[in-house]
Amino acid sequence: MSDLKCSDTSCKKQLDATYWEAQYKAKSTGWDLGQVSPPIQEYIDKITDKKKRILIPGCGNSYEAEYLLEHGFTNITVIDIAPTPVTVIKEKFKNNPNIQIVLGDFFEHQGNYDLIIEQTFFCALPPTLREKYVWKMHQLLAEDGILAGLLFNRTFDSGPPFGGSKEEYEKLFADAFDFIKMDLCDNSIAPRANSELFIELKKKSLT
Ligand SMILES: C[S@@+](CC[C@H](N)C(=O)[O-])C[C@H]1O[C@@H](n2cnc3c(N)ncnc32)[C@H](O)[C@@H]1O
Repeated sequence: MSDLKCSDTSCKKQLDATYWEAQYKAKSTGWDLGQVSPPIQEYIDKITDKKKRILIPGCGNSYEAEYLLEHGFTNITVIDIAPTPVTVIKEKFKNNPNIQIVLGDFFEHQGNYDLIIEQTFFCALPPTLREKYVWKMHQLLAEDGILAGLLFNRTFDSGPPFGGSKEEYEKLFADAFDFIKMDLCDNSIAPRANSELFIELKKKSLT
């Protein structure tokens, strides 16, 4: 976990499993919507292939996974580094063969996915890990795989969350992904109105 230590001047905390677990134990989980995020719900509603291999990293309480399960998706994997939410969702989805729940570090995870859903995971990472995030996503996606979800289009005084801008993300993802969509959302929850970009990025073939 030592490579999760943040050397960015805007992040003096070590954002490791201990940090995230402490947030859950203290119920200091302001990011938790208690429901599937509306822009992601809208995106899921348009997916017809329910057998897609889907990964949700930094899943927390996994409302997106719950929504997928309720709508017939059969191949979902979620991963989080903090034991508390993983224990909660293991209990919630016990005996459900359509979801694999992993306690672990996204950067060490191995797999092959058609779709990876981003929901307040990118912004939780130290900005120094952003390039590593991009290439890890690229590695985990199958040919023509899609990374879809939400990125903040604003900055924060101190993080996490760590924000950014469309221009910054375009530069960051350009070598590894083709851009299908990177647009301001019109259906964010009220506290995040006008501050979220919906992204749909297709893995670039490097051969
Ligand atoms: C801001 S929370 C978002 C949780 C969830 N996506 C949500 O929207 O409610 C970030 C999550 O990422 C997890 N996390 C942070 N670093 C991680 C890593 N390297 N691998 C897996 N999960 C990680 C944290 O434990 C936390 O649950």
